[in-house]
Amino acid sequence: MKALVCGKGGSGKSTVAALLAKSMARRGYRVLVVDSDESNYGLHRQLGMELPGSLMDYFGGKKMMMEKMRRSFTEGEQVQLFDQNWTLAEIPAEARTEKDGIKLLTIGKIHDFGEGCACPMGALSKKFLDNLQVGEKEIVIVDTEAGIEHFGRGVEAGCDAILAVLDPSYESLLLSKKIAEISEKIGKPLYFVLNRVDEERKTAMLEFLDEKRVAATIPETKEIFRAGLAGEEFDFSMEEVEGLADLLME
Ligand SMILES: Nc1ncnc2c1ncn2[C@@H]1O[C@H](COP(=O)(O)OP(=O)(O)OP(=O)(O)O)[C@@H](O)[C@H]1O
Ligand SMILES: [Mg+2]
Repeated sequence: MKALVCGKGGSGKSTVAALLAKSMARRGYRVLVVDSDESNYGLHRQLGMELPGSLMDYFGGKKMMMEKMRRSFTEGEQVQLFDQNWTLAEIPAEARTEKDGIKLLTIGKIHDFGEGCACPMGALSKKFLDNLQVGEKEIVIVDTEAGIEHFGRGVEAGCDAILAVLDPSYESLLLSKKIAEISEKIGKPLYFVLNRVDEERKTAMLEFLDEKRVAATIPETKEIFRAGLAGEEFDFSMEEVEGLADLLME
């Protein structure tokens, strides 16, 4: 199972990805979290880890990747960014960190002024997920950058389910429609995770959403807020996230 977590900026994608990863690891699953967000630097802290070296660096850095992609445009060469068909156990140590049954792999981050766009990261995310082999009692959770650019790049092709994290905002509701449209087109199951939502907010949001798709409703909690603000590990469990984990295991 490869589950991709998406949604608007700040809706709680990384929070849901981290809480879900923790829950699946407690259930004895081997978990790989893929940080495919090129801009944010917080996910490893939520998992209580150091930032790993990136997959981009493992393959020689962004310049090298950009050069390969450029050749494919100008010379029509097939983009073959890499051809490894890794299992979770085979992901090289240089490109990941690990703690309590959770591996974390970072695709690549923007580090510098004028270094260019994030296209190579998108291409690498897609290729990595397309090629990744997931076995019994293993789960891959992909945390994406805000918005829907990853759909444009085809990153979802290698995933089995899409979790759209929706906070109570007009932007999230609007985005949920777009995501539903695209998910249907590519034939991927889509679930909504309502975040920062109590009963009253849920009722209001359900006026605009298909209730059958709502897989979890996560309230605003002091625990998440404090840990999130301080960049501390999420070492607590939540009933609502356990429900989401149950659903994914089915
Ligand atoms: N249910 C919640 N209760 C309290 N605080 C929350 C909750 N969900 C998220 N937060 C806080 O909101 C902030 C944004 O969450 P998070 O980083 O998970 O969002 P994101 O969608 O990954 O953002 P980005 O688009 O920047 O990657 C964090 O500080 C997090 O701790
Ligand atoms: Mg995030």
